[in-house]
Amino acid sequence: MNETRIPIERESDIVVARQAGRQLAAANGFSMTDQTLIATAISEVARNIVVYALKGEIIVSRVEDGTRVGIQVVASDAGPGIENLDMAMRDGYSTKNSLGLGLPGARRLMDDFHLTSEIGHGTTVTMKKWRR
Ligand SMILES: Nc1ncnc2c1ncn2[C@@H]1O[C@H](COP(=O)(O)OP(=O)(O)OP(=O)(O)O)[C@@H](O)[C@H]1O
Ligand SMILES: [Mg+2]
Repeated sequence: MNETRIPIERESDIVVARQAGRQLAAANGFSMTDQTLIATAISEVARNIVVYALKGEIIVSRVEDGTRVGIQVVASDAGPGIENLDMAMRDGYSTKNSLGLGLPGARRLMDDFHLTSEIGHGTTVTMKKWRR
C-alpha cells in the first residue's frame, strides 16, 4: 500500500492518520525519529481539520523525485478557509486562543510545506519529508 486515505472527523481519526503515516514511513525505510516527526506533523494538520473545518481527509503516500524517496501528506478540507496565510504560519497566532504552533511546527518538522486556502472553500496543506 503506497497510498492511504483517512477521513478525518473526530479525535480518533487523528490517531489513525498518525499511525498510517508512521507505518508508511517505516515501510519505506525512514528512521524511527523521522517516523515520529512525520506522525507529529500529521497530528497537527489533522487536529486543525477537526477543530476548524470539522471534517476533511488526509492522504499519505510514497513519492519519488528521481533520486529520493519521500512521504507526502495532503490534508484537505472544505471548511471556512484561512483569512491570512502569513499570519497563520506565524508562531503564536491562533484564532481559538490555542498555542498557534501547529502549522509553523509542522512546517519545521517536514522538508517541504505548502499551504493553500480560500475563504469559504477550504484549506489544503501539502507536505513532504525525504528519506535521509
Ligand atoms: N484547516 C483549517 N481551516 C481553517 N482554519 C485553519 C485551519 N488550520 C489552521 N487554521 C487557522 O490557522 C490558525 C493557526 O493554526 P495553528 O495550527 O498553527 O494554530 P492553532 O490550531 O490555533 O493552535 P495549536 O495548533 O498550537 O493548538 C488557526 O488558529 C486557525 O485560525
Ligand atoms: Mg492547530
